[in-house]
Amino acid sequence: MSKNADQLAAHIRAAAGDAPVEVGLILGSGLGHLADAVDGVAIPYSDLAGFPHAGVSGHNPNLVIGTLEGTRVAVFGGRAHYYESGRGDVMRLPLEVLKALGADRLIVTNAAGSLRQDIPPGELMLIEDHINFSGLNPLIGERSDARFVPMGGAYDADMRARFTELAAGESIALKPGVYAWYSGPSFETPAEIRAIRTLGADAVGMSTVPEVILARFLGLRVLGVSVITNMAQGLSDEAISHSHTKAMAPLGAKKLEKVVRQYLTRD
Ligand code: HPA
Repeated sequence: MSKNADQLAAHIRAAAGDAPVEVGLILGSGLGHLADAVDGVAIPYSDLAGFPHAGVSGHNPNLVIGTLEGTRVAVFGGRAHYYESGRGDVMRLPLEVLKALGADRLIVTNAAGSLRQDIPPGELMLIEDHINFSGLNPLIGERSDARFVPMGGAYDADMRARFTELAAGESIALKPGVYAWYSGPSFETPAEIRAIRTLGADAVGMSTVPEVILARFLGLRVLGVSVITNMAQGLSDEAISHSHTKAMAPLGAKKLEKVVRQYLTRD
């Protein structure tokens, strides 16, 4: 853990209390509402030295520390993407801070395009695995042997099983699938979508994969959920745009919030 992460964690504890964080949540485009539901303290990223600016519209660059359904959480209202800076490790410090605050689990959410007609816009997809289609890695430059992170089972089987059970209990469709990371910020071409479909992808987006690699590097257990906002390029006549993503995200976000709240509820 970097000295900086420990210092930031101490600063956050002074503002939000000493109780250890259990679960971290990263909210994707248009999914920021969940942060408002937390009973706690919001700290702007700009008060946290070294935190990324997370300047994409549809993101709310605050770290909210508090309680949701009885569980102590740290909610990252905005994530920084590789395409904003060209740095694959932009989320490393935030995740180190999460770990320093005591968390052992991370829930990563994103808005994504679907490659499957049976997972239409407005539905959720449970990420069971990913394809690093961008080929970039946030651990490039890391010196320790810990950089050789095994990525089998990166998406925690127990967390997935629990989430699947809870979604079923709420009658919310939650099919498992493979998420492919495309660097962005341009959207994919139809040929790229056909290519990643052939490679085994079920959804595509511009985030998540670097964070999951970093989270596994730090020993966090990970759950990933995609909120499907559109069919991927070439699979529907509907035009793809960021404003469409932001407009569609709340549909799936409501479902996501229900299942996340259940997950965080103490038995
Ligand atoms: N492609 C990449 N990222 C996305 C998409 C998409 O179709 N939809 C939402 N985020």
